[in-house]
Amino acid sequence: MERLKTIDWKNETVTIIDQTRLPEDLSYLQIETVEQMHEAIKQLKVRGAPAIGIAAAFGLCVAMKTFPDQGSMNDFLTLLEKNIDYLAGSRPTAVNLFWALERVKKFVAKEACDCTVEQIKKRMIDEAVAILEEDRKTCRTIGENGFELLKDKSSILTHCNAGGLATSEYGTALAPIYIARERGVFFKVFADETRPLLQGARITAFELSRAGIETTVICDNMAAVVMAQGLVDAVIVGADRITANGDTANKIGTYGVALLAKAHNIPFFVAAPSSTFDLSLNSGEKIPIEQRNREEVAAFFGKVTVSEGVKVFNPAFDVTPAELIKAIVTEKGIIYPPFTKNITMLLG
Ligand code: MRU
Repeated sequence: MERLKTIDWKNETVTIIDQTRLPEDLSYLQIETVEQMHEAIKQLKVRGAPAIGIAAAFGLCVAMKTFPDQGSMNDFLTLLEKNIDYLAGSRPTAVNLFWALERVKKFVAKEACDCTVEQIKKRMIDEAVAILEEDRKTCRTIGENGFELLKDKSSILTHCNAGGLATSEYGTALAPIYIARERGVFFKVFADETRPLLQGARITAFELSRAGIETTVICDNMAAVVMAQGLVDAVIVGADRITANGDTANKIGTYGVALLAKAHNIPFFVAAPSSTFDLSLNSGEKIPIEQRNREEVAAFFGKVTVSEGVKVFNPAFDVTPAELIKAIVTEKGIIYPPFTKNITMLLG
C-alpha cells in the first residue's frame, strides 16, 4: 500500500495532508508562503510534534525562497531570524517545533560564512529534507525498540495520534504496531476518540485501518471499562515534550489514561524521538501548555453544545508525571526509571 506523505517537498513548494479533513477526505494542501505554514500549524492541518518540526523547517525554506539571490547575507540572516520567531509563535507545547527551527538557524549560521545567498537557500532546503529523512529513520528505530516491549502483548490502547501522520512516516507510539505488522504480528488497537478534536477517531483509526490493523474506537470515557474488562495489555502514547525527570506532556487526556492504567496494573509506555526531550526543564510544571479556543469545546462539529456565556476550559495538552510511566522508548534505546539518571545517561 502506498505510504501517506504527511509532508512532502517538491518543485520548491511544500505539500501537506490537510489533517482537519480526515477521515472523509484525504486531500493535499500546497503551502506557498510562510503565513500559510503558520496557519496550517496553528489550525492543526499539520500536527503531531515531529511533523510540526519538519513543517516549520520547510516553512523557513518557503519564507526565504523569494529573497533575492544577489541580496546581502546580513539582510538574509535578519529576515530568517524574523521568520523563525514568527513560526515559533504558531504553537507553544511541542518542543520539536523549536528544536527544528534552532537546528536550521545553527546550520545557516555555520554555512553562511563560506557561501552566497543563492547557495545558502539551496543548502537550507537540503537541511529540511535531512530533518524529514532522519525523522523517518528515527521513527523506524523507535518502532523496532518498542516492538521489543510489546511483542508479548496482543491488545494495545493509544490516545490521540502519534502515528505516521504525526511524523514523516511510522509515527512514534504506532511505530511498534507497524513494525509488528511487517513481521507478521497483528496487534488489536483501542483508539481513544480524543476530544475535543478527535485525533484518535479521525486520524489514528484512519491510518491503522488503512494499514490493515484491527482498530476499535472508544470515547475517552470508555477507557476505564475496556481496561476493567481485561481487554488492554498495554498503553502506548506519544509525547510533545519530555522534561529531564521524565514528566511527559502529551494530548489532553493522556494523564487520565495513565492513572487508569496504573489502577488496572497495565503498563503505560511513552514513545518519542530524542528531539522531544527538553533537558532545560527539570520537571513538567514548567512546560507551556497551549490553551485553545472556546469553540472547540462549545460546539461539536458545527452544532453548539454549550450555552453562550458558559465558561469553557480547553488546554490542548496535559502532563503525565514520570512515576506513572513504565518506560520511554526512543531511537537511542529504551529508558527505564529512575528517569532523571537514565535520561541524562542516554541523552545528556
Ligand atoms: O494537538 P496535536 O494533534 O498536535 O497533538 C498531538 C499529540 O499530542 C501527539 O501525541 C504528540 O504530538 C506526539 S506525535 C508523534
